[in-house]
Amino acid sequence: MKIEFSKEKHIFSITTENLAYYFSITNKGILKHLYFGEYIESIDDELISDIGFDWAKTYFDKNELKEKEYDDNFYHDRSFLEIGTHGLKDNRPSSFEIEVNGNNKVDFRYVNHRIYKGKPMLNGLPHFKGDEKDSLTLEITLKDVVKNIYLELSYTVIEGIDCVLRNSKIINKEKECKVERAMSLTLDLPSDQYNLISFPGDWSNERNINKDKISFGMKRISSKFGRSGHEQNPFMILEKSEDLIGFLPSYIGISFVYSGNFVEEVSVDKNKTTRVNIGINDEDFSFTLKENEEFVLPEALLVYSSSFDGLTQNIHDLIRDHLIDRNHLDTQDKILLNSWEACYMDFDTEKVIKYINEAKKLNVGLFVLDDGWFGTRNNDLCSLGDWYINEGKINLRKVVDECHKNNMKFGIWYEPEMINPDSDLFRKHPEFIVGDISKYDLGLSRHQLVLDFSNPVVVDNIFNQMCSLLDKYDVDYIKWDHNRCLYDAYSSYLGYENIGKFFHENIKGVYSLLARLKERYPNILFEGCASGGGRFDLGMLYYTPQIWTSDETDPVQRMFIQYSTSLIYPLCTMGSHISKNPITNYLTKGNVALFGTFGYEFDPLKINEEERKEVIISSENYLKHHKLIKNGDLYHLYSPFDTNFMCMEVVSKDKKEAIVLFTNLIKVRNTYRMLKLKGLDDNKLYRNSYNNKVLKGYLYKNVGINLTRWFDEFSSLLIYLEEVNDEN
Ligand code: GLA
Repeated sequence: MKIEFSKEKHIFSITTENLAYYFSITNKGILKHLYFGEYIESIDDELISDIGFDWAKTYFDKNELKEKEYDDNFYHDRSFLEIGTHGLKDNRPSSFEIEVNGNNKVDFRYVNHRIYKGKPMLNGLPHFKGDEKDSLTLEITLKDVVKNIYLELSYTVIEGIDCVLRNSKIINKEKECKVERAMSLTLDLPSDQYNLISFPGDWSNERNINKDKISFGMKRISSKFGRSGHEQNPFMILEKSEDLIGFLPSYIGISFVYSGNFVEEVSVDKNKTTRVNIGINDEDFSFTLKENEEFVLPEALLVYSSSFDGLTQNIHDLIRDHLIDRNHLDTQDKILLNSWEACYMDFDTEKVIKYINEAKKLNVGLFVLDDGWFGTRNNDLCSLGDWYINEGKINLRKVVDECHKNNMKFGIWYEPEMINPDSDLFRKHPEFIVGDISKYDLGLSRHQLVLDFSNPVVVDNIFNQMCSLLDKYDVDYIKWDHNRCLYDAYSSYLGYENIGKFFHENIKGVYSLLARLKERYPNILFEGCASGGGRFDLGMLYYTPQIWTSDETDPVQRMFIQYSTSLIYPLCTMGSHISKNPITNYLTKGNVALFGTFGYEFDPLKINEEERKEVIISSENYLKHHKLIKNGDLYHLYSPFDTNFMCMEVVSKDKKEAIVLFTNLIKVRNTYRMLKLKGLDDNKLYRNSYNNKVLKGYLYKNVGINLTRWFDEFSSLLIYLEEVNDEN
């Protein structure tokens, strides 16, 4: 990786092994984008600067009041930019809108720059981690051409990964300014030949794969209900479309490290160029800054690869090695039994103890008591906000002791951001809720309201309540749920004058609570959840290194959800359990759950002997292969969205072993079928567990494993390949 500045050409170059990013500083100090894509050694401004229209090559000079010709190959609405201007001669969506005394134009110009080892760490916002040994940063200070407002913009590269991270900070030196729009990343591409891949969905149907050819106009994907959401995910991929020629990028992954309202815009203009923006949703956003105040934007990332698998692997490495907290592997690697689908809220101490004892026989190492242990909660009508034990229902001390006595860890469910109107907390502090109850009826969802986490007093209250339990009991794991979106946006703490700050301050409040708890209880592993996978994003992953992928536990539906989720998020982050759902046998359920964090979501007392045997086989597979599955390179071989099969393969980094999950949907006859693998070393010999044959890697890759056979509906295969020294 390298970051350089050519003093002669005024060009910045940011390169990794396979990626190059170039931009220049024009005579007037504008950052002009030149190139992003496959590694190239150098680029010349001249190569891409001819705009072809003579009449567009002049401007009216403000000092001399006369028409002048651009003398630096920069043309306001045609040149590619690092930061889109606002309110000037450019129709493309802007990067910033910042108002001072009614003037909302923005035009940032270069002031100075520095290149240093390491990367910026954001205070109060989640971010990728990097240090002097593995990362390099270019930081550029810019100033608006008229206003006394600065922008600190940085680009970071990380060793071994083809990515560029972008950070920005607005620094206000005016008496007051109002930030109305602040994109974390703008990328201009000199073509419209792309497909946009996004991940829309719904509850229990998260992250479908949506592929649209981009064309004139704008595609806008967003969330405005306070969390990233089931409906959309703040991760998009631009794929080079078939008819593209030339040396343009092939796959570009774009996301940002944030869990609140977001917007992704992909727009194509009349010149058939594409502008991509990602950032905090500018709808319901307005942030007033006083003199010397700063606004730090969430960190954005650009990942590049010439293949889809390469893109996935780059993203996974970046998340695994530089985002998530891997200090809890001991707990993460345990097989988890969650009580939710076993008994919902219908439990008592005796039942739970029976679960724990039975779970032991199924190789469980972590028992999680889900919803229903606090306040007076036996259904979802009450008690969110009252985080004290329902002593009449459960003896928590006994439960925790029983787990530890059985050498099992103990975990518990919380939904810290929520409140039921029927709760002691609401009766005492009705002002803690989100919404203006003095003027409007408020929407309820699952009978609950949301706590106003933009108010630090509310965050303190929940922190203190949680600490009073966590200080007393030895808790190893917390499932952090979030079962409704935020609407009726209003905070009595911020008031209407600051309503534009609400969503951002609220998510910062959530991050602050997570950070404080993680600091005080460094041994607790947090798993995120939001009615399943409704807040699966890089922001949450920074605090909760695994997230419950979906409430849909039918393994067939799950196949789809896990397949698409794993295109962008690593398997080690994806909560996946075997449930009692009757659609397939337990082996298929087990195989699907293996390609995730693995656990159980059923009543261990209610499975029959056959099912028990299958669960034990799966658990043994997990114990044998989880390190490979969670840490290797993932390849997506067959998509269930396009074929009758789902097939994924994980190859260890040293290429000594691999594991393949093959499942089918509807019954198939013995049609000719060769399963070609990827990622193996061409010349290593591997024995495969399907037919016990020993073959060289290139044969598995080019000829494949012969799967010409009958498959019943929803049946699955797990094939393990291991390097061997000779053919016997
Ligand atoms: C959400 C979660 C479930 C479970 C319930 C409890 O729906 O996704 O796994 O924890 O809440 O109320």
